[in-house]
Amino acid sequence: MTDKIVIEALSLTYSDGVESLRNISMGVRENAVTVLFGPAGGGKSTLLRCLNRLNDLTEIRASAGRILIDGENILDPKTDVIALRRKVGMVFARPVVLPMSIRQNLTYGLELAGEKRKSRLDEAVERSLKLAAIWDEIKDRLDDPAIALSGGQQQRVCLARVLALQPEIILLDEPTSGLDPISTGKVEAALLELKKEYTVILVPHSVQQAARAADFAAFFLQGELVEYGEGKSIFTMPKEKRTEDYVTGRFG
Ligand SMILES: Nc1ncnc2c1ncn2[C@@H]1O[C@H](COP(=O)(O)OP(=O)(O)OP(=O)(O)O)[C@@H](O)[C@H]1O
Ligand SMILES: [Mg+2]
Repeated sequence: MTDKIVIEALSLTYSDGVESLRNISMGVRENAVTVLFGPAGGGKSTLLRCLNRLNDLTEIRASAGRILIDGENILDPKTDVIALRRKVGMVFARPVVLPMSIRQNLTYGLELAGEKRKSRLDEAVERSLKLAAIWDEIKDRLDDPAIALSGGQQQRVCLARVLALQPEIILLDEPTSGLDPISTGKVEAALLELKKEYTVILVPHSVQQAARAADFAAFFLQGELVEYGEGKSIFTMPKEKRTEDYVTGRFG
C-alpha cells in the first residue's frame, strides 16, 4: 500500500486573516476511504479545495507547504491545473445536474475532451452509473432530463459524471447532506465499490457516517489536524481527549 497523496506542512490563511490550515502533514492511502471530520470551520473543505486547486479562485493571504500527488507538487505554479482537475474529481454537497438528459450529463465532459465514438461514450455511461450504484434504477430512462430525478438520484448522477472522466482521486464534500437515509446508504455503498479503484477522500455529514465509511480518519479542529489514523481506532479508542470529546458527542 502506498500513499497516493502526501501533504507536507500545509498552511493557508484567507484574506480575512483566519489561519484555516495550520501546518498540516498527512499521507492519503490509495484504494481506501480517508475521512476528514470535525466541527464547522475546521478547515475540511479548505483542504479538499487545495487538493484540486479550487482555492486558486479564492483570495488567499498566505500559504505554505507542499502537496505531492504521485510524487509531484501540485501547488507548483507550473502545474497543469486542467489536467489536475481531471485527475482529482470533486463532488459537492448539493448536486448540480446540467440542464440536459441523464446521458448527456455523463458524456458532456468526455465530448469536450474530444471523445466522439458512440461505443466509448455508451461504455462510459454504463460503467460510471454502475459504479455510482444507480444504473439499475435509471438505465431505462437515460434520455429523460436529469433534473427530473430525485435529489438522491441526482447526487449519484453527479458522482457518475465525475467518474466518467476517469479520475484517480475523488473528493466528496458532504455528498449526502441533503439526502434521506436510503439514498445516503446507496451513496455509502457506492463508496465501498469506488475505493477498489480510486483514492477516495470524504468529508462526512456526521460522526456516524465518518465511523461507517472511514478506513482512515483525520480529525480537524480550527485548522489543526488533531489526530489521524485508522478509522477503527479513532472512533473506538481515540488517543486525544479532544477527539474523544467530539466522537462521543460531548461537543460539536
Ligand atoms: N472563501 C473563504 N474566504 C475567507 N475565509 C474562508 C473561506 N472559506 C473558508 N473560510 C474560513 O476558513 C475556515 C475553515 O473553513 P472550511 O470551510 O474549510 O471549514 P469546514 O471544516 O469545511 O467547515 P464546515 O463543516 O462548516 O463545512 C473558517 O474559519 C472559514 O470561515
Ligand atoms: Mg465544509
